[in-house]
Amino acid sequence: MTEGPRICDYGDSTYRQDFWEGQGRDYEDAVERRVLKQLLPAHGIRLLEIGAGFGRITNEYSMFRQVVLLDYSIEQLQYARRKFGDVGYMYVAADAYHMPFQPGVFDAATMIRVIHHFENVPAVLRQIRDVLADDGMFVLEFANKRNLKAMLRGLFRLNEWNPHTLEPVEFVELNFNFHPAYMRSQVTRLGFDVRRAVPVSWFRLGILKRSLPTRLLTELDMLLQRSGWAISPSVFLDLQLKSQMGKRAPPSAADALAILRCPRSGSPLRKDGDVLVSGSGARWGIREGVYDFRQPLD
Ligand SMILES: C[S@@+](CC[C@H](N)C(=O)[O-])C[C@H]1O[C@@H](n2cnc3c(N)ncnc32)[C@H](O)[C@@H]1O
Repeated sequence: MTEGPRICDYGDSTYRQDFWEGQGRDYEDAVERRVLKQLLPAHGIRLLEIGAGFGRITNEYSMFRQVVLLDYSIEQLQYARRKFGDVGYMYVAADAYHMPFQPGVFDAATMIRVIHHFENVPAVLRQIRDVLADDGMFVLEFANKRNLKAMLRGLFRLNEWNPHTLEPVEFVELNFNFHPAYMRSQVTRLGFDVRRAVPVSWFRLGILKRSLPTRLLTELDMLLQRSGWAISPSVFLDLQLKSQMGKRAPPSAADALAILRCPRSGSPLRKDGDVLVSGSGARWGIREGVYDFRQPLD
């Protein structure tokens, strides 16, 4: 790919084992699932999960006829594929800054715990807008810079950054927190309507999670979510793309290859054994059932 924004490459990292499994985050996982259940429609055609990782929350999308998991890490996707199989699922290893999809082929997209790795937010949001159909929905979760803990620390001058200013803060390399007003302005500028902003994960404190049942914390979280106060560490935006003339409705779920295109030339692709060939001659591999658009084959 041409020189562009940096990518946070999870490769064959042990994110699943080191961050989730047995790591005391059942509460965070539970509240995220509850919010998704509230926001997603009862039925849908094709959903794009951006930065799907190992498919932690992919089973929440079963109301869609097809779920396309996109991630830069082929290893994370291969794990997900072993779990979900190929019927109704498609696995795409690609850089979200260079999506290999035809315009308007998804009626929904989600991006959960992912945009905090993006230094060029407008660029990735533009890609998402382009692959959504008219009126498509997009659930975007972001890490909130103006959270209660950061504001309290700010009072005692314990932060090196100001939680109230609009610019994103990179607190660790390629890990950004965003101000809610910044994220809102980015999405609205690109033609999304903000239907709801849901503040989530209010009780991310080891002592609370150890001493109170996950179910109780989850229910309390659901109550606070209704407040709409965007001062929690995580915020979910329920977005809808305004209709744009010239876009199209998503093709049928059976039409798997028709949704792809070469991320370099934009040309359609045809399958030749384990390779996808674009009209421009670029060749892209298929590795263990995962379409690999990170680098073309020689
Ligand atoms: C913190 S994990 C979240 C995974 C999943 N959404 C979840 O909530 O469990 C972030 C994921 O974003 C992916 N990612 C980061 N930058 C990316 C990019 N430029 N294109 C595609 N995926 C990217 C990483 O590979 C990783 O799997």
